[in-house]
Amino acid sequence: MHLVGVTGGIAAYKTAELVRLFVRDEKEVRVVMTPGAARFVAPLTFQTLTGSPALLEQFTATAGERVRHIDLALSARVFVIAPATANTIGKMAAGVADNLLTTIYLAARCPVILVPSMNDQMYQHPAVQENLVRLRERGCLIMEPAGGELACGSSGKGRMPEPPQIAEFVRTALREKDFRGIRALVTAGPTREPLDPVRFISNRSTGLMGYALARALTGRGADVILVSGPTALPRPAGVELIPVETARQMHAAVMKSVEGCDLVIKAAAVGDYCPAVTAEQKLKKDGCEALIRLQPNPDILEELGKNKGKRILVGFAMETERALEHAQEKLRRKNLDLIVLNDLNVPGAGFGTPTNQVCLIDREGEVAELPLMSKDSLAHRLLDRIRPLLSGP
Ligand code: CTP
Repeated sequence: MHLVGVTGGIAAYKTAELVRLFVRDEKEVRVVMTPGAARFVAPLTFQTLTGSPALLEQFTATAGERVRHIDLALSARVFVIAPATANTIGKMAAGVADNLLTTIYLAARCPVILVPSMNDQMYQHPAVQENLVRLRERGCLIMEPAGGELACGSSGKGRMPEPPQIAEFVRTALREKDFRGIRALVTAGPTREPLDPVRFISNRSTGLMGYALARALTGRGADVILVSGPTALPRPAGVELIPVETARQMHAAVMKSVEGCDLVIKAAAVGDYCPAVTAEQKLKKDGCEALIRLQPNPDILEELGKNKGKRILVGFAMETERALEHAQEKLRRKNLDLIVLNDLNVPGAGFGTPTNQVCLIDREGEVAELPLMSKDSLAHRLLDRIRPLLSGP
């Protein structure tokens, strides 16, 4: 059961969406509100979403209940307090139990996740910061507030993150840490090969798959370095991000970081060629036809394959024809343990889509075709396949 605590902040209206997301993943979701929260959002909203009454009263018990706060605290798999106001954070840090929510906190033995949300000046106040340090030391997981426009009209760090991000944080917190102790390097995104200060040659990669893999790996306890070409995606929390632009920069960053890595996943779409000359000034319209000559970029994965040692190497292959044959050839040529084949002809697969449909091919030639799924789910399926390779001889 997911237990959601709602306290009296304006962001409480977003918690309705968060609860809706939890209801999708979890059989039972219960909501406990402070009296302040009930002034912002009606308990009926949460009752409608969860199918169970939102709980507010500390000193009542309905049929079948023994001690309400103990029952709830013991049956929760996780207790997520979103938004967490300065007031509730202060009470939790001091061990005050003056309402049902703060009382449950003291009785809970499950992971407790706090999502502070308040005015930026309040958030920065040493009293709040010290309370958060105390709670963190006692094992609470704290999701940093986002920056941006605040309800009070000012702007700064204090906004409650969006519900999908909170749901992802919670999922990550609950996941088994089966990659703990593993150091992984992931590459993501496209590369850009400049023709002049204005233009470049690139490809349609958006980085979604590589970033999903980086998030999944950190969520499962790995130390992750993400070498990323230009994307519009936010830096995954807890990941060391090395931004690059060209294939040569990616090559240099990978070669510098790969030492000590147990696993490399190359999801980036690396440009195979770059302009032989990058013009210092903007190229003018006239006479460009003959100007663009290309030269090959290094094949990063092939180079890694030559010095593989015990490291597990996973590549991607993006194909439009004779897909399996090409992917198998790449697996052999690049000395890979696993190759993930994307067939661009499959609807919902490939660049820019939130979903993907792939085939996994291993060194023994075994081919496993996976169904269409979200890139986040696929990232975990891939890690499930990779995990036994890492513990192998
Ligand atoms: N790759 C790489 N360095 C390159 C090109 C590709 O590391 N210069 C990696 C990609 O990150 C991917 C795998 O190799 O994991 C296969 O990439 P792909 O572009 O499909 O294969 P290529 O070897 O470039 O072959 P082709 O473009 O001819 O299909």
